Amino acid sequence: MAQEKREKAIDLSHHLSELSKKRQTSPLKGLAKYFGRPGLISLAGGMPSEAYFPFANIGGDALIPESFAVKADEQESSVSWFWKLFGKPKERTNPITVPKFPTKPDEINLAVALQYGMSTGLPQLQKFIDEFIAKVYQPAYSNCESLVQTGNTDGWSRAMQTLCNPGEMILTEDWTYPSALASARPFGIEPVPVPMDKEGMKSDELRKVLAEWDEKARGAKRPHVMYTVPVGQNPSGATMGAERKKEIYDICVEYDVIIVEDDPYFFLQMGEYKPKSIRDQQSAATESDDQFLANLAPSFVKFDYQGRVIRLDTFSKYIAPGSRLGFFTCNPMFSERLQRQGETSTQAPCGFGQSLIAQLLTTWKFNGYARWLHGLATQYTDRRNFFVDCFAEEFHLQLTTGAQGAWEGCAVYAASPKPRGNAMSEKYSVGTKMFSFVPPTSGMFLWINMHFENHPSIQSEPEETLEMKLWTKIADAGVLIAPGWYFAANDDIPEAGHGHFRISFSNAEFPDLKKAVQIFSKVTREFFEEQ
Ligand SMILES: Cc1ncc(COP(=O)(O)O)c(C=O)c1O
Repeated sequence: MAQEKREKAIDLSHHLSELSKKRQTSPLKGLAKYFGRPGLISLAGGMPSEAYFPFANIGGDALIPESFAVKADEQESSVSWFWKLFGKPKERTNPITVPKFPTKPDEINLAVALQYGMSTGLPQLQKFIDEFIAKVYQPAYSNCESLVQTGNTDGWSRAMQTLCNPGEMILTEDWTYPSALASARPFGIEPVPVPMDKEGMKSDELRKVLAEWDEKARGAKRPHVMYTVPVGQNPSGATMGAERKKEIYDICVEYDVIIVEDDPYFFLQMGEYKPKSIRDQQSAATESDDQFLANLAPSFVKFDYQGRVIRLDTFSKYIAPGSRLGFFTCNPMFSERLQRQGETSTQAPCGFGQSLIAQLLTTWKFNGYARWLHGLATQYTDRRNFFVDCFAEEFHLQLTTGAQGAWEGCAVYAASPKPRGNAMSEKYSVGTKMFSFVPPTSGMFLWINMHFENHPSIQSEPEETLEMKLWTKIADAGVLIAPGWYFAANDDIPEAGHGHFRISFSNAEFPDLKKAVQIFSKVTREFFEEQ
């Protein structure tokens, strides 16, 4: 949307929860605007003297933004683990330092970062984030704001409490991030699952849920809040494209729904998986960093001309989870309420983390951070490719097109055993379909659907029991994966009782990923032989 045509956010204050409405303006608010002002003699608060902070400066050796190649090539990752094994890191670093008392006024100031009063974050960090939001997410309204939080777990918890009253229901994907539900449930807030397909939440199903909402039958008002993980959907790995987002946004305008966009994997978009034989033939063109950003499926914020999206960003997946730092992108009214809430819990994200990350980002600058994110996206794409290739080595993978349900229209790989040794001696038929999956198009997870209907004991044991039995055997053999039922929004979703597993390819070294698939293969094959 052209900059000059953008309107201000509309008034959405009727979405605030009773709890949020009761939050008083903090007594410190009137003082806070003065904090951090150079030369201020502050005798107002219980502030310790900066002279007693035991750090004259903090710093570290930061990797350079070009540390990871942007050309999809699994060699790069394989070489890094090789070097690690032999204790020769090939990292190139630059020192960064945050002094307690810098000499220039616009430098990041450790004394300010470690003092009370920074609930909106370090000014230099805020500036960087605002520039980043404007360039990358391109909000469709003019007075969009950012506010630091301590990661998306905190972000969602604050957004949910700011918007929802006990007894309300929230719209979610059928399969969703369990920790988000665990935050909401103790407040008496339950999910309303909306069926998904390869792009995540389906717009026609969303409309159906909202249009046919029966308050009496449901025992709750029609939901006015949606929690969605549109990119690297956890657990399915789906990516929601621009058109779908626009459709969903328009339905949310029609039914007056606030969208909370939990988007920790936004920059880990990797496109469709191509089998190794095809990849080897095609040498993928390398995108520039600008092209990389421009080709990402956009955020809901890009369509948000009314200010009804609260976007949650986190540095957990791009810098480190221990940084406990992220930010909201939302309208000023929500931002103010979220800030009030933060003031009575964390006050502000940790000053050590904020100053180091602010120093890193302002040293790298926008272009450096874009380059870093581009490198990470390539790394995770290599991991995804390598991991799926491992399955192709271990199993006979048949490529089909999903006919119905969540995988309708997707390239689905159905895995059956590869004949080994004397195939005739094996109890199952070589064509027994044991599981299937759609390679993820973003994020960190492979979501697999077990075909326990082909297990010899299916007549006597329900799929949930088989799922847990197989999960235990795989864990006992030394590979920990996540059982599928963790991710079911509730028991009503059509496939809730079926066997699923979520397997992460984000952390283990390449040889361990390979070994894990070999163990998974052996245990699964044996399991499908059992009577
Ligand atoms: C969908 C989703 N939201 C939030 C989080 C947690 O994010 P943070 O570390 O920022 O709290 C995760 C982490 O796995 C996630 O998958």
